Amino acid sequence: MNKHAAPDIKAARIKGGVATGQRHDSAHKHVTGTAIYIDDMPEPEGLLHGCLGLSTVAHGRITRLDLSEVRKAPGVVDVLTAKDIPGENDISPTGRHDEPVLADGLCEFHGQPIFCVIATTREAARRATRLARVDYEELPFIVDVAGVNPKKGKLVTPPLTLSRGDAKAAIRNAPKRLKGRMALGGQDHFYLEGQIALAVPGEDHDVTVYSSTQHPSEVQHMVAHALGVPNHAVTVEIRRMGGGFGGKETQGNQFAALAAIAAKKHGRAVKIRPDRDDDMIATGKRHDFVIDYEVGFDEDGSIHGVDFMFAARCGFSSDLSGPVTDRALFHCDNTYFWPAVHAKSAPLYTNTVSNTAFRGFGGPQGMVGAERVIEEVAFATGKDPLEIRKLNFYGVDDRNVTPYHQTVEDNIIGRIVAELEESADYARRRRTIAAFNANSRFVKRGIALTPVKFGISFTATHFNQAGALVHVYTDGSVHLNHGGTEMGQGLYLKVAQVVAEEFQIDLDQVKITATTTGKVPNTSATAASSGSDLNGMAAQNAARQIKDRLTDFAAQTYQVPRDQVVFLPNRVRVGNQEIAFADIVKQAYMARIQLSAAGFYKTPKIHWNRDKGAGRPFYYFAYGAACSEVSIDTLTGEYVVERADILHDAGRSLNRAIDLGQVEGGYIQGMGWLTTEELWWDDKGRLRTHAPSTYKIPLASDRPKIFNVRLADWPEAAEPTVHRSKAVGEPPFPLAISVLHALSDAVASVAGHTICPRLDAPATPERVLMAVERLKAEAARG
Ligand code: MTE
Ligand code: MOS
Repeated sequence: MNKHAAPDIKAARIKGGVATGQRHDSAHKHVTGTAIYIDDMPEPEGLLHGCLGLSTVAHGRITRLDLSEVRKAPGVVDVLTAKDIPGENDISPTGRHDEPVLADGLCEFHGQPIFCVIATTREAARRATRLARVDYEELPFIVDVAGVNPKKGKLVTPPLTLSRGDAKAAIRNAPKRLKGRMALGGQDHFYLEGQIALAVPGEDHDVTVYSSTQHPSEVQHMVAHALGVPNHAVTVEIRRMGGGFGGKETQGNQFAALAAIAAKKHGRAVKIRPDRDDDMIATGKRHDFVIDYEVGFDEDGSIHGVDFMFAARCGFSSDLSGPVTDRALFHCDNTYFWPAVHAKSAPLYTNTVSNTAFRGFGGPQGMVGAERVIEEVAFATGKDPLEIRKLNFYGVDDRNVTPYHQTVEDNIIGRIVAELEESADYARRRRTIAAFNANSRFVKRGIALTPVKFGISFTATHFNQAGALVHVYTDGSVHLNHGGTEMGQGLYLKVAQVVAEEFQIDLDQVKITATTTGKVPNTSATAASSGSDLNGMAAQNAARQIKDRLTDFAAQTYQVPRDQVVFLPNRVRVGNQEIAFADIVKQAYMARIQLSAAGFYKTPKIHWNRDKGAGRPFYYFAYGAACSEVSIDTLTGEYVVERADILHDAGRSLNRAIDLGQVEGGYIQGMGWLTTEELWWDDKGRLRTHAPSTYKIPLASDRPKIFNVRLADWPEAAEPTVHRSKAVGEPPFPLAISVLHALSDAVASVAGHTICPRLDAPATPERVLMAVERLKAEAARG
């Protein structure tokens, strides 16, 4: 047992070795300040610092860019503009060439970087930035998507349509039907460590960039592209991020490219670390949506057909808006079988920062749409929403095909919800709450139990590949490298566990090393929750190659059949004798056996045809359910989460301590998204919520007063993933939809549960209060 482990978590190996409760490998360093982030690295001699100069209009042509005062300011070494970019002025991640590093003549959002000051200190760079004189010819701009017709608005990328059956006819012919609209806000990533890049120039075209990124290969490509040099000249390295949450999938490109350009131009190391306000203004966020829905159903709440339009605020460029809005559609079913369905996306252009990946990648937005439809049907039929949910769950045979024509083969939602309903004591608590509300004049309670089904795999099939590099040194210690990045989610530890398990050696014999494009090339972003699925398999593959060679070597050397070479904890049994792992390694080295291997993995079975809207985009699904209870103050709109019970499916967990942390963290982050985190742009297109003073993420004190979180440890239905574990990074995030619905339930109580509150998100205290007032007024009118 490690002395840093939390007392209730066993470090001991269980279940054949892998599934441990080992604490995060860096947990003690995170909390004692000894974990090294990029800004903690010793600074190279002569380091220069960069600061971005941002547009002050939402849309406009630059008519004059006077940087003379900036250049004269103390400490300033250079000011970069678009014309200083030696290669292409573009960092569009999908090759659409629509995202300049620095605006060149045209500004498309308030806060768009126009120039970058390079100075001897960070302070000098920041002060000098203010001295720029920029004149614009202002142009008309669009900030919000609410007023835009999704069928007519300008799009940043082609929309997607999913359909199965004749939704229009099914809705028209259903005994009951209704339609509605819901607005759903975006979210700032609020990673604790902001964006940062440190570029160190090398000889010839070479440059090494330390970048806080989830996607080192893309940073490498973007930097090379902007410098106009081959990829081989650029090395990108990252040991850890202080949180990424999708916000560092593409958003680090800009800082890395500018730091590298300045570093090569001046032959000095350059660091760019924007302050929190600039980070929040100039980098993309979760897409906010306006969801239009129409549903046909019958008296008992069984749904016949659904039609959705998902309009998203994408910002001024495509970034990842295509795949994000696609994933929203892929999740507009959540756990429900829509007998006939039509769903369309509208990735709308706006003069705002380009929105990007954020935990769930559009999936949670799709599920919110599905849950709203369920809620509407529940109110329209006068039933408990949970009853409507269960009635419409995916089933077997003719009730298991998704809107994208993939068959759901691993469905465990019925069992998850049944067990949670029982352990959370749902039915009894609903009665208790009704009694409480009848007697409480101002404080009202609400409860909701909502399910989650989340598709695992990148929907762009080619991203579902990974590489790893494993070296065994002559003392038996192991160096592990792979394409995945560590952002706090525990990926490095999980992959190290997999390797330790292969060799049957202690975890501390496996050295977890920084991700670098020089060791494993052409990697995918650590995203789509697939980090451990992909990199765990690739590392296992590398370790197995070495293990195979060691097995052959031992069998030959000791003249025993191959099956008599068995890896035991820290030793190898060869025939009748046992040899320490380090000794067999040393012997193999002396016999000139290669003790290093590159591993590879690609996810089987998946394929996707976007034009047809059909295929099998997901290898498998992760499931979960949450039951949340809230109380609201109907005089102020304030609320608290009284209790949350979660049962979440991580397959056979690779690490229960890490996975529980992911589930708790995901739920809380999702709760922030749906309750208090509100992004607000003013009528000039300025984001006014760009600091913690105006943007409220959950505090420790906002966590549920009672918080029961369990993992569903059922590997039976899963595909053969690494040790039968399941991805757990994003799927727990939408468990927080239960909080939104519990708030809605509490609000609905003021009108005797006869009117659907139709709460928009985030359901801030103001919105809750307004909904209470609205429902009271409507009820009084009768
Ligand atoms: N957990 C922590 N602590 N920090 C993070 O930045 N990012 C989330 C999730 N959990 C994140 C996190 C997101 S958006 C994803 S896609 C996954 O982790 C990525 O890691 P994985 O694939 O290894 O689960
Ligand atoms: Mo996560 S949004 O896929 O980085």
